[in-house]
Amino acid sequence: MNSFKNIQFDSLENIGFLQINRPDKLNALNDETLDEINAVISKVYEDPSVHALIITGSGDKAFVAGADISEIAQLNENTAKEFSLKGQNIFSRIENCHKPVVAAINGFALGGGCELALSCHIRYASENAKLGQPEVSLGITPGYGGTQRLTHLVGKGMAFELMMTGKMISAQEAEKTGLINKVFPDKETLLNATHDLIKSILKNAPLAVGRVIRAGNDALKTGVDGFKTEVEMFTESVNTEDFREGTKAFLDKRKPNFKAK
Ligand code: COA
Repeated sequence: MNSFKNIQFDSLENIGFLQINRPDKLNALNDETLDEINAVISKVYEDPSVHALIITGSGDKAFVAGADISEIAQLNENTAKEFSLKGQNIFSRIENCHKPVVAAINGFALGGGCELALSCHIRYASENAKLGQPEVSLGITPGYGGTQRLTHLVGKGMAFELMMTGKMISAQEAEKTGLINKVFPDKETLLNATHDLIKSILKNAPLAVGRVIRAGNDALKTGVDGFKTEVEMFTESVNTEDFREGTKAFLDKRKPNFKAK
């Protein structure tokens, strides 16, 4: 798993740690980097020893400063659709992952970098983070899900302001709009807080957490009845060993021992 060129992946105490690692290009996402991220996402889906994932950028300057503009510049009408669909598909796999995925935004999160963060379930950031969708300044539109996820997350008015101006906003402003959940003074504090957040999620029944993700995602899909999904997720939960363990542990006044069953 560590034969990657553009990312680093480690797993410690069942928490996967994915670092985009192209510091000389501010961690911009080229095609190869997207493939490597996708390979890690497959591992998170399939490997029972990985219970959650943190995504961050190497160094202190950038989370991801966008899709790689040198590759974007080569696109034409025959290749643009495939380019957009590829990023969309990988980021949808992150969004729909049944295990928690948290973005630790440690600097610039622009264009595809902001879209990567948007596809994660929760976003924490350091004070030096700067977020934005500057695509219009390059003559394009966001293509990795940003027009949809940003609009869902911060509302149409703020999303349009960001996408039409292309401006960058500070971590503090992003927190106010709901684009990120919380700001921390520096990268070290950010990563510690992100680990603590994940640990507090992992204390809970894993299958129930996965079902919350599914029902929550359905809240925003057109043509899908999220309330119906909620009933299904609730009913499936009651059919698990962890449901019996969780309720029994509460009544026995002890901590539950969940087994993801
Ligand atoms: N794609 C490819 N290369 C990128 C990049 C991107 N999205 N963002 C930064 N880089 C490269 C720069 O070209 C530069 O490479 P070089 O040293 O070989 O010339 C290197 O990363 C450092 O960037 P630089 O612009 O010198 O840093 P800065 O501190 O002056 O500015 C930014 C930082 C983020 C404001 C600036 O790099 C920027 O605007 N990047 C593009 C952001 C963007 O439009 N993203 C959306 C793409 S769809």
